[in-house]
Amino acid sequence: MKPYKQHILVCHGKTCSAAGSERLLELLRDKLDAEGLSGEIKTSKGGCFSVCKETEPKGGYCPVVVIYPQGVWYRNVSEKDIHEIVEKHIKGGRIIERLLHYKMQPA
Ligand code: FES
Repeated sequence: MKPYKQHILVCHGKTCSAAGSERLLELLRDKLDAEGLSGEIKTSKGGCFSVCKETEPKGGYCPVVVIYPQGVWYRNVSEKDIHEIVEKHIKGGRIIERLLHYKMQPA
């Protein structure tokens, strides 16, 4: 097996799930399949990333999607954003500023 190029984690904590993250992951996997990228891009469900606790009321930034190795955290990701994430970020290597929660700094 060749190593994956990128890893996309879709939060499936309680608050992100209530905001539609399960459907986001389905759409993401469908889009990656359609683009022939499923063998290069790993997708996973993640537990709560704690971003949901940063707003009052809780969950204002949900759903959350994280992409490595870039360490990019996206918030308020909607179904319509999946196409853009795959086209711009995954295929184009460009961060989508509109969705950016933060970018991790290299150690
Ligand atoms: S449930 Fe997704 S960040 Fe907490």
